Amino acid sequence: MNKSKILVPLGNKSYEVTIAAGVINNISQELLKIGVKNNRKILVISNKEISDLYSEEFLKNLKDNNYQAQIFLIKAGESHKNLETLSEIYNIAFEFGLDRNSLIIALGGGIVGDITGLAAATWLRGIEYIQIPTTLLSMVDSSVGGKTAVNHPKGKNLIGAFHQPKAVFIDPETLKTLPKREFNAGMAEVIKYGIIKDKELFEFLENEKNKNKLINLENEYLIKIINSSIKTKSYIVSEDEKEHGIRAILNYGHSFGHVIENLCGYGEFLHGEAISIGMRIAGDIALEKGLWSKEDFIRQDNLLKSYSLPNKIPKINKNEVIRILMGDKKVRDGKMRFILPKGIGEVDIYDDIVDSLFLKYFS
Ligand code: GLY
Repeated sequence: MNKSKILVPLGNKSYEVTIAAGVINNISQELLKIGVKNNRKILVISNKEISDLYSEEFLKNLKDNNYQAQIFLIKAGESHKNLETLSEIYNIAFEFGLDRNSLIIALGGGIVGDITGLAAATWLRGIEYIQIPTTLLSMVDSSVGGKTAVNHPKGKNLIGAFHQPKAVFIDPETLKTLPKREFNAGMAEVIKYGIIKDKELFEFLENEKNKNKLINLENEYLIKIINSSIKTKSYIVSEDEKEHGIRAILNYGHSFGHVIENLCGYGEFLHGEAISIGMRIAGDIALEKGLWSKEDFIRQDNLLKSYSLPNKIPKINKNEVIRILMGDKKVRDGKMRFILPKGIGEVDIYDDIVDSLFLKYFS
């Protein structure tokens, strides 16, 4: 597979995800194909690191094709995914004269994508935007599905909106400049798709030959796993766009993951690393409840380990864990809700998890 297109079917909000090596170098041609006329204003949001690598060629391609393009760089890091940065984007949008016919493009990882999406959702009550994710994590997760957000001092992603992009373009070539640790963290989300819905993907990832090809960043193999991940995400999002039900299974490993990120300080663990520990805890609870076999638990553990993902639970105080879990917006009516595996490729949502089952992991 050297190119793939996946439709996210959402009625009149449907869009395509294009995965192809080199796609960001031909952005204007791609925009014309999806009906973005080349006299439109385009505001590109990125950060310095990504911009240093890609923006010169990217903007030249847009300008050579008569798009009126401008770039705005936000500061990198979770601590800048806030209302202040969003407000800076609004100022630029105003100065640039971004109107209802204009377009915003997110060029970067999940932070750039989330904040750009929220800017697009709210500027003039909503304009079109495109996601061009450059990290594995954002390729397989946040760029698809229309969740947009910034953080509030009291919690992550507390301010946001559902706003679907007009299109998503994924270029596996951008993974060649991604730090190894970030690539591995992205693999945690890919492994997640294997556990929640895609046994074939899980087995593909377990295969030693495939593993080596992925570690060597061979496009064909990268496209295969990104394609499989997005197919699952697309299916789930089209069934339940606003997370009233099944979409919650995408949060497998995330309840404890968020606790770990929050209590250890964002930065000590990358998101995918925290999720990896969260999946291990969820897997262990499932084992104790007799939901899945020891063999499946070990397979999950081994696969996470083979991408150097952590499984050791950091020292965290029990009361703090409860405080974070109860404040988590995924907890409903004060009940603890967890996604637990029933086998490789199958999970379920449990609303009845009692404290004693999970507090024993903490001090
Ligand atoms: N990242 C989980 C979701 O998109 O629902």
